Amino acid sequence: MPTAPVSYSVDAIFTPFTIGGARIKNRFAMAPMTRNFSPDGIPGPEVAEYYARRARHGVGLVITEGTVVDHPGSSHSTSVPHLYGEKALAGWAEVVQRVHAEDGKIFAQLWHVGLDPLAGEALGPGTALIGPSGLVAPGRQITEPMTQRQIDDVVAAFAKAAADAARLGFDGVELHGGHGYLIDQFFWEGTNQRTDSYGGGVAARTRFAVEIIEAVRAEVGPDFPVVLRFSQWKTADFTVKLATDPQELEAFLAPLTDAGITAFHCSTRRFWTPEFDGSDLTLAGWTKKLTGKPVITVGSVGLDSDYVTMFAEGTGAGTESIAGVIERLERGEFDVVAVGRALLADAEWVAKVRDGRLRELTPFSPQSLATLA
Ligand SMILES: Cc1cc2nc3c(=O)[nH]c(=O)nc-3n(C[C@H](O)[C@H](O)[C@H](O)COP(=O)(O)O)c2cc1C
Repeated sequence: MPTAPVSYSVDAIFTPFTIGGARIKNRFAMAPMTRNFSPDGIPGPEVAEYYARRARHGVGLVITEGTVVDHPGSSHSTSVPHLYGEKALAGWAEVVQRVHAEDGKIFAQLWHVGLDPLAGEALGPGTALIGPSGLVAPGRQITEPMTQRQIDDVVAAFAKAAADAARLGFDGVELHGGHGYLIDQFFWEGTNQRTDSYGGGVAARTRFAVEIIEAVRAEVGPDFPVVLRFSQWKTADFTVKLATDPQELEAFLAPLTDAGITAFHCSTRRFWTPEFDGSDLTLAGWTKKLTGKPVITVGSVGLDSDYVTMFAEGTGAGTESIAGVIERLERGEFDVVAVGRALLADAEWVAKVRDGRLRELTPFSPQSLATLA
């Protein structure tokens, strides 16, 4: 039975926005989500259709799942896509072409897991395991600290992947600097205990990322969007904070901004949570205020439960967070809103929100992860 549309103004969300050289037709991005549907690291036609379907139904910017760079140990899965090798690159070219045909823009998320916080210790001898200090978690050293040679090789692998992404027609790249993976292992003192220039205070711990950003920038030129995704939280510990106050956040963000980042993607579990005591501003809001750069927010948009409880609880398609998104966007707290699980559950999510058809949304459930629907 048709239901009456829910009324609110979506004008702010459907106003185009430009990140570096990429003009995005609205403010909704698909959040990067690992799907494990690329056998031998090669994204096939069903992956292309999965992304194209979301673009067809209104997603302005697709940010791909983490796609790994060409370096030993960048992934320990056989079904996470590569951004290297002829077949994988041909697969991505098809994805890009299909998303562009639907009037969407697409950024590739570039990833190296490092000492994978989820799988690191279980992988055993013979596996390529690298991390700044060999620590899989604070106090749990499982291998030697990365050598300068290994650092240089990873930097070069990110630069090569970005160059290939640009050549394939991607509209930008996003560096996965969050959630406790390799770049974030350098950011966090819990896993970076180095005493050389890659370790030390919050600014010194950005050096690895700064070298990656500079190397990527040298490959892709000044206008190509290079986004950095970062998070306070780690997969191994949701209570961690890289920065405990705005001054520390500023010290963290300044070298990354100076290195040539186009925009920041602030990975939070709930997009509305104030970041520091004494202010309502969220991590995205602070990042925009401190850097003046475009900012992408994320976290439980269109959901009633948060990331951690996603497998334990059912979810609904509440209107409250949509209203909150619009209000904060109008206030200028962020520029783009990434949507994760809600878009897995319902490929038409953006179109339904645009048309006020919230009651027709398919709510997220763990089954949404089972297929590339
Ligand atoms: C199945 C799944 C896979 C994910 N994979 C990635 C990933 O590859 N890279 C990344 O930066 N974040 C990843 N995330 C985090 C999402 O990008 C997003 O930040 C998180 O789901 C919160 O957004 P949501 O509440 O809208 O789902 C993943 C999340 C899910 C649910």
